[in-house]
Amino acid sequence: MQVTGKVVVVTGGANGIGKALCETFHKAGAAKVVVADMDAANARAVAATVEGAAFRCDVAQEKEIAHVIEETERQFGPIELFCSNAGIGGGFDPMSVNAGGASDEPWQRSWAIHVMAHVYAARYLIPRMKARGGGYFLNTISAAGLLSQVGSPAYSTTKHAAVGFAENLAISHKADNIKVSILCPQGVDTNMLRSIPKGPQSGDGDLTPEQVAKDVLAGLAQETFLILPHPQVLGYMRKKTENYDRWIGGMAKIQAKMREEFGK
Ligand SMILES: NC(=O)c1ccc[n+]([C@@H]2O[C@H](COP(=O)([O-])OP(=O)(O)OC[C@H]3O[C@@H](n4cnc5c(N)ncnc54)[C@H](O)[C@@H]3O)[C@@H](O)[C@H]2O)c1
Repeated sequence: MQVTGKVVVVTGGANGIGKALCETFHKAGAAKVVVADMDAANARAVAATVEGAAFRCDVAQEKEIAHVIEETERQFGPIELFCSNAGIGGGFDPMSVNAGGASDEPWQRSWAIHVMAHVYAARYLIPRMKARGGGYFLNTISAAGLLSQVGSPAYSTTKHAAVGFAENLAISHKADNIKVSILCPQGVDTNMLRSIPKGPQSGDGDLTPEQVAKDVLAGLAQETFLILPHPQVLGYMRKKTENYDRWIGGMAKIQAKMREEFGK
C-alpha cells in the first residue's frame, strides 16, 4: 500500500519509533495522521508537526481504542492503516534469577499493551474494513517476538503472542483484502531501549527510529508480512528452526555472559 492520501492511526506515536512513523507518513502524503498515546503532551507536539490530530489514549483500555477509532473515522474518514505500535519494556532482570519470578503486574501490563491492544484494534476495525473492502494493520512487535529477549520473560512471551495474533489476523482476513505487516527490529535508539539493560538486542547495531520508519514505508509498499529493519534476524530465525536445541544453547550462553556482566 501507498500511504499517500490515507488516514492513518499510530499508537505510541508521541515518541521513538511511533513518532518517526508519524513524520514519515506525513512526508509521504498521508491525508491525516492521528497520534494516539498516553503521553498527551508529546502526542499533541507530534500532531502539530504533521498537521495531524492527537488523542490521549491508554491502549490497554478497550474503550479508549474504540473511542480513537470512532472519533478518527467521524472526523477524518475511514482508517486505512492502523499501526499498533505502543509498547513498554517492563519486567527486565538481566540476572534472570527466576524466569517466573516477576510479579503479575509487569506481566499483565505487557499482556494488555503488547497483545490485547492489537486484539481491540482488530475487534473494532475488522467489521468496518470488511464493509468497505479492505484495510491494513501494521503491528510493531520486535525481533524478541520471533527469537527471544534475554533477561525479560514478560517481553519475550507477550511479543511472541503478538506474532501469533498477527499471523491469525492475516490468515483469517486475507480473503477480506485486509493486510497485515509486523515490524520486528532489534535495537532502535529510543527512550525504551535506553531504559533497559544493554544486551544482545544491540548486537547488530542500534538503528535510528527514522531508518526504521523508512523500512516500514518500503515494507508497506511491498505488502510483506514481515518487516525486518535488521536483516540479520531472518538468519537467526532460520538457525532457530533448523536446530532448536543448538539455538537454545547459544541463547543460554548469551544469558550467562549477561549475568557475568551485571554480576560484576
Ligand atoms: N526501541 C527498541 O529497541 C525496540 C526494538 C523492538 C521493538 N520495539 C517496539 O517498538 C514499539 C515502540 O517503542 P519505542 O522503542 O519507540 O519506545 P518509546 O518508549 O520511545 O515509545 C513508546 C511509546 O508508547 C507509548 N505508550 C506506552 N504505553 C502506552 C499505552 N498503554 N497506551 C498508549 N501509549 C503507550 C509511550 O508513551 C511512548 O510514546 C514498542 O512496541 C516496542 O516494544 C522497540
